[in-house]
Amino acid sequence: MTNKQVLLKFGTENIEQHILKNPIPRSIWLQEGDEPFVQIIDQRFLPHENRTNDLKSTLDCERAIKEMEVRGAPLIGITAAFGMYFAALESLRHDDGETCLQKKAAALRASRPTAVNLMWAVDQQMALAKAHGFNQQLPEALWNNAKMLMEEDAEVCRKIGTYGLELIKEIAAKKPGEPVNILTHCNAGSLAVIEWGTATAPIYQAHLQGIKVHVWVDETRPRNQGANLTAYELGVAKVPHTLVVDNAGGHLMQHGMVDLCFVGCDRVTKNGDVANKIGTYLKALAANDNQVPFYVCLPSSTIDWQISDGLSEIEIEERSDEEVRYIQGLHDGEVKQVLICPETTAGYNIGFDVTPARLVTGLVTERGICQASAAGLASIFPDK
Ligand code: MRU
Repeated sequence: MTNKQVLLKFGTENIEQHILKNPIPRSIWLQEGDEPFVQIIDQRFLPHENRTNDLKSTLDCERAIKEMEVRGAPLIGITAAFGMYFAALESLRHDDGETCLQKKAAALRASRPTAVNLMWAVDQQMALAKAHGFNQQLPEALWNNAKMLMEEDAEVCRKIGTYGLELIKEIAAKKPGEPVNILTHCNAGSLAVIEWGTATAPIYQAHLQGIKVHVWVDETRPRNQGANLTAYELGVAKVPHTLVVDNAGGHLMQHGMVDLCFVGCDRVTKNGDVANKIGTYLKALAANDNQVPFYVCLPSSTIDWQISDGLSEIEIEERSDEEVRYIQGLHDGEVKQVLICPETTAGYNIGFDVTPARLVTGLVTERGICQASAAGLASIFPDK
């Protein structure tokens, strides 16, 4: 099916209407009623099993973030925002409710260290709680605010897509009839946010406009978010893509097989340094050496305005070495883990790295594209 047919199939719907209904289901949604709760896709089992989990308490939200049932900086933030609703509800049952709320907020903030969207979302909710006052109506106010943040994230990502689309169009114009080859790392797709993704938003918009794109998907060891999640969602959206091992990017770039890189990120400093999934830095180095444009796509909730130097000031998550020593996949119809090294070999599992601003061609945000620098960020976020 050609892109044109995909568009025709959706008749009079515009792209926004199309993507809102298709192709990727949301990774988080709400069950509203007398006792509202949250449901999520448990991303640990994709693409092989489609399991959903109910989140009905602060602890459920904390666990879902920590265990990576949900992951991706913006989605972690939205999950924590709903976690704050449960936190308020639970705190009302305590004598010292306000202290209890603060403790639960602190636990949510600590559930993963690197993605600043998590702290941002908890701070948004705590600011609302302060302004609102601690009373019986607070949970409802926090629930409504979390819903607002969730819808805002979808809109922000749509805007990132429209700005990033122009970069794809520029390259497409220079190679008529040929696909624009884009390399991405980890999953900064729809599953990592509410809709569209960050790095994938321009790709989806190009694809829906009939612009030929092809995506090189880094597998992204150790948890393989590229192989498991990005490949899955690009497949559902019918975007041409090819899975490559993490070490292939440099070779592809040397041979002119990558036109540009789009990656997401978990935290950007006010000087434009970027923390993203481990391995991003090596891709940026290879891109720089081969004059391949390297763009980082992000919502402004990923900018940490408090810090300047990414290398010294961003806390980098370290996870269990079991994720390095074992690899997960489908075997005999079941999702299983297999050991890939001698039983006694230790692993080191560092989750993120920092790409210095000098290696980043530009930051694609909901306010437009800017240089990865203090001046660049200030030019589109003068209010910060
Ligand atoms: O450890 P993960 O899977 O949460 O890491 C995700 C990433 O590194 C993404 O690139 C980042 O969060 C951006 S999501 C739009």
